[in-house]
Amino acid sequence: MTVTITIRRPDDWHVHLRDGDMLRLVAPYTARQFARAIVMPNLAPPVTTVEQAASYRDRILAAAGEGFNPLMTCYLIDQVDPDELSRGHAEGVWVAAKLYPAGATTNSARGVTDIANLHAALARMEAIGMPLLVHGEVTDPQVDVFDREAVFIDRVLEGLVRDFPALKIVFEHITTRQAAQFVADASATVAATITPQHLMLNRNALFQGGLRPHVYCLPVVKREEHRLAVRAAAVSGSPKFFLGTDSAPHVVAAKESSCGCAGLFNAPFALEAYAQVFDEEGALDRFEGFASRHGPAFYGLPVNEGTVTLERTAATVPEQIGSGEAAVVPFGAGGFSWRVAS
Ligand code: NCD
Ligand code: ZN
Repeated sequence: MTVTITIRRPDDWHVHLRDGDMLRLVAPYTARQFARAIVMPNLAPPVTTVEQAASYRDRILAAAGEGFNPLMTCYLIDQVDPDELSRGHAEGVWVAAKLYPAGATTNSARGVTDIANLHAALARMEAIGMPLLVHGEVTDPQVDVFDREAVFIDRVLEGLVRDFPALKIVFEHITTRQAAQFVADASATVAATITPQHLMLNRNALFQGGLRPHVYCLPVVKREEHRLAVRAAAVSGSPKFFLGTDSAPHVVAAKESSCGCAGLFNAPFALEAYAQVFDEEGALDRFEGFASRHGPAFYGLPVNEGTVTLERTAATVPEQIGSGEAAVVPFGAGGFSWRVAS
């Protein structure tokens, strides 16, 4: 008999849906699995105004089809206007704001150069209950790439949590033992999202038989001890940890390049990947919390209506999605051991 699991319809609390042709290609994959998604604002140019966010939301709705609710975010810049944040939040356009340290990742050139520049904005967000989403890596070239998340905790995050004790903070796509520990020990205002790739891969995957651009993302995958710590956090049942795919598609030519882009496209089989991890950990009873309940609780939103059923059976992943110059390679070359039942 096939083993199945049925959970409340889940949400993706961190996704890059892009724009234009790429948006039209990838949005249906997210909408097929998730009722809502926190949409990252790192377009070029970034989404810094309420009007930009509202029109981006319209383009996503057109691409994703009925029944999908994109939750928009503001890209924080040094000159951010607290009144613009309040206005967008009050109008229901912005659900949260995203901090990219300048230069930390894809399309972060307009990001924040010094956290002190955000003081007024963060005080406002704390007052109005607008969550701060953090790409938690320092950009100091003196710091080893594999240490940038752990160093960010010491240099930036501890101070943020201390100075803004009521501010809701999501430490996005955590990848290290230090990050998992920090979040677990912090107050209830601090949570974290976890991606499939950081649950499934360690840094050996980057070099398996040669250089593997399609598993290169930021923060970069880490040593095995960190993968195990992040896995333990995900399946712990703690409401501080929830699903955020960080699906971040780039066309094949941008990945297979002398300077390949960071980001991998996991949206087509995201739930399958997570279900496999929870199954391997003997924690299927905690899967619904991670995928469907902890996120809404943190954001103060209702749990979704409806359910999704997965079955334990082989799912094969196509080599590419889309065609020609627009093609993207999905995460999960070897396939998964769970599948969303049709
Ligand atoms: C993301 C992208 O491509 O926009 N890349 C990634 O490796 N995750 C940006 C980000 O979330 O860091
Ligand atoms: Zn991201």
